Amino acid sequence: MPAAIEKMMKQYVATKKGGPFQVVNGDYPIPGPDEICIRNRAVALNALDLKSLHHGMMVQQYPEIFGIDTAGVVEVVGSNVTAFKAGDAVMSSAGLGGRKGAFQDVTTVPAHFASRKPSTWSFAQACSAPICYLTAAAAITKGLNTPLPHLQPRKPLTREDSSSEYLQERHLRSKSLGGLALALANPPPPPPLNSILIIGGSSGVGASAIQLLRLTLPGATIISTNSPAHNKHLASLGASVCVDRNLAMPKLLAAIKAASPAQRGVDAILDAVAGAGEDSSLFSVLNKGGPNLYTNVFTGKEVNAPEGVKATKVFAHMMFVTPDPDGAPAMARLADLVDEGKYKLPLEIEVVGTGLEEIGGGLEKLKKGVSGSKLVVAL
Ligand SMILES: NC(=O)c1ccc[n+]([C@@H]2O[C@H](COP(=O)([O-])OP(=O)(O)OC[C@H]3O[C@@H](n4cnc5c(N)ncnc54)[C@H](OP(=O)(O)O)[C@@H]3O)[C@@H](O)[C@H]2O)c1
Repeated sequence: MPAAIEKMMKQYVATKKGGPFQVVNGDYPIPGPDEICIRNRAVALNALDLKSLHHGMMVQQYPEIFGIDTAGVVEVVGSNVTAFKAGDAVMSSAGLGGRKGAFQDVTTVPAHFASRKPSTWSFAQACSAPICYLTAAAAITKGLNTPLPHLQPRKPLTREDSSSEYLQERHLRSKSLGGLALALANPPPPPPLNSILIIGGSSGVGASAIQLLRLTLPGATIISTNSPAHNKHLASLGASVCVDRNLAMPKLLAAIKAASPAQRGVDAILDAVAGAGEDSSLFSVLNKGGPNLYTNVFTGKEVNAPEGVKATKVFAHMMFVTPDPDGAPAMARLADLVDEGKYKLPLEIEVVGTGLEEIGGGLEKLKKGVSGSKLVVAL
């Protein structure tokens, strides 16, 4: 650890279920060989933080440090890490892999949880992206069985190929694959998805999914349910049609069907907000003659899909479950997508304060409900 780095740091801990929070001193972390320590400059507030606080979701024991999204500056890297060095600006998911979350001065994460920060995004913007992006990527790749083009090898690779791109590709994939043979396997051909309904297109996950799907399936009909205030933004991300989510259910279903190809219903549903758990009649918009796919983001709310529907529940870190050829490059490639203009900030951000002690107030604001924005605390 560089001598200049102080040995203690501040942590924002939930002392027990339901709170209160307290700022405490903690030891400066020592990264494992494949980890990096990030000096957090901004953290995003997520529904999971509220569920952890009030319901103990994903909490092993209290006191606990929440926070699953961060952006900051790398301070220390583990001995195996080559992708980052001290001083790099990054954005990262946090709080899994046996490490505490982002609500502290310095967070430790496996290096493949992080991406360099795009230069066009501020720290406050960058911290709002990782979890929503990873969850949408998991829904599309695992739930809808559709490979994301930006996670595929960038050129045909062979064992004889010794180009630097090959070596980089092999490095990215070796962690999650545990072998070269799988790394070079051809991705499966995409299934014929021509139409997808996104329930909750204006959520962070939904707005991320719209743009990833548009990149992946340029000709597909993408229908979003959301409040009308967000129609213009979601159309700019790639939604073909936005349906007012506040319509009475029969009208909502009719509008979705009317927007689907030949009014036959959609091939797949990506449910970002467990909407079909609130009203299962949403399943009726699936085209029974199509692939009949439904994927829902794990929210804590159970959704029971009717017989015949192929349902898959997903969560963000499924992208990192081994062996997964798409997992290791998932974050590394995010900044490239942004730089290439292919991925935009999913939602506007609102900075609700500066300093760890502002997180509790920010979570209170999140609890009251937000629409089309992501709450962020600057550090
Ligand atoms: N398992 C995981 O790995 C994981 C990761 C990330 C998120 N999640 C979960 O996924 C859910 C979404 O998270 P998020 O951060 O993306 O949410 P968010 O940005 O906070 O989404 C809130 C928006 O969802 C929309 N919405 C709520 N209920 C709806 C419904 N029935 N139909 C259509 N739209 C609805 C509302 O849109 P309007 O304002 O347009 O009305 C609301 O503004 C949360 O439950 C979160 O805990 C899970």
